Amino acid sequence: MLVLGLETTCDETAAAVVRREGAGPGAILSNVVRGQIEEHAPYGGVVPEIAARAHIDALDGVIAAALKTAGVTVTDLDGVAGAAGPGLVGGVIVGLTAAKALALVAGAPFVAVNHLEAHALTARLTDGVSFPYLLLLASGGHTQLVAVKGVGDYARLGTTVDDALGEAFDKVAKMLGLGYPGGPEVERRAVQGDPARFVFPRPMIGRPEPNFSLSGLKTAVRLEAERCAPLSEGDVDDLCAGFQAAVVDVVVNRARAAFRLFGERYGRPTALVAAGGVAANGPIRRGLQRLSAEVGVRLVAPPLALCGDNGAMIAWAGAERLALGLSDGLDFAPRPRWPLDAAAAAPGAKA
Ligand code: KG4
Ligand code: ZN
Repeated sequence: MLVLGLETTCDETAAAVVRREGAGPGAILSNVVRGQIEEHAPYGGVVPEIAARAHIDALDGVIAAALKTAGVTVTDLDGVAGAAGPGLVGGVIVGLTAAKALALVAGAPFVAVNHLEAHALTARLTDGVSFPYLLLLASGGHTQLVAVKGVGDYARLGTTVDDALGEAFDKVAKMLGLGYPGGPEVERRAVQGDPARFVFPRPMIGRPEPNFSLSGLKTAVRLEAERCAPLSEGDVDDLCAGFQAAVVDVVVNRARAAFRLFGERYGRPTALVAAGGVAANGPIRRGLQRLSAEVGVRLVAPPLALCGDNGAMIAWAGAERLALGLSDGLDFAPRPRWPLDAAAAAPGAKA
């Protein structure tokens, strides 16, 4: 089964062609991602209107490149998948409309994909992981620990009560005068820093329910930064190292609590899967590796290129749904908010 996937929910314009053949991992025939970092960098964050316009400019070329690299034409496709949310609605409309049009041209079914589900299922594309597994989904907008029991069958075990993990990295980077996106910058500066110079709080550690809270930690970093101002390069390195060390401890502790809850409710998970942009962080990966070894399950963290937003994960989620006979009508509307586990999503809560 050959599926084209389009991703435009945030600041990545992406298209990919993926092949799925029964159970087991899939094959990525192409995976083209055009980032918009330069467009948004002056503002220190993603500007929705700029993102939507950049998607319009880039999408045609990105799709053409994905088809060419894969060596296929539109009529070869067995399905076209578009990320329909959650995300910035202007960008979602661009990708979703293109996906519907291409499905029509291909005479193939259209699949509206939940961006979070696509992150959640990436470990099946890369490693053929079987259900059920424990997922840590950590990106700029989302921080969730989820029991993944099947395609479309997700139970949220925990989430953040304030900032998302990636958002905390981005805000700390911004307050320290580092570039956007902040995660990779903070990680790079932390390498040279002393993680013991500043000891920051580790919010939520020890609580049985696997939730996160990051705003207190972020504020603590801000207060230290203000106290030390003007900051030397070494101060910035040490603040980054101290912040990242606190985040690693929090993530490992919260994932441990999620394992416990998972075990009580669903038995033994086949794996711990880390997904989303923050899963690219080396120290976080290593912390999760230690935890997995301790618990006795394997850690599956997608290769770096598949941690951030990409088209392959959308194509794969589309293929998984098509294999179950699921597809969507061309009247499917964009969903700026689209929780993975609707039952667990409290109104107004940031997932
Ligand atoms: O999944 P993603 O590409 O986009 C969405 O937010 O959906 O995640 C982007 C987020 C940003 O907040 C970025 O700072 C963070 O992931 N990130 C990292 C690293 N690389 C990206 N955070 C920590 N360490 C990294 N190496
Ligand atoms: Zn994402």
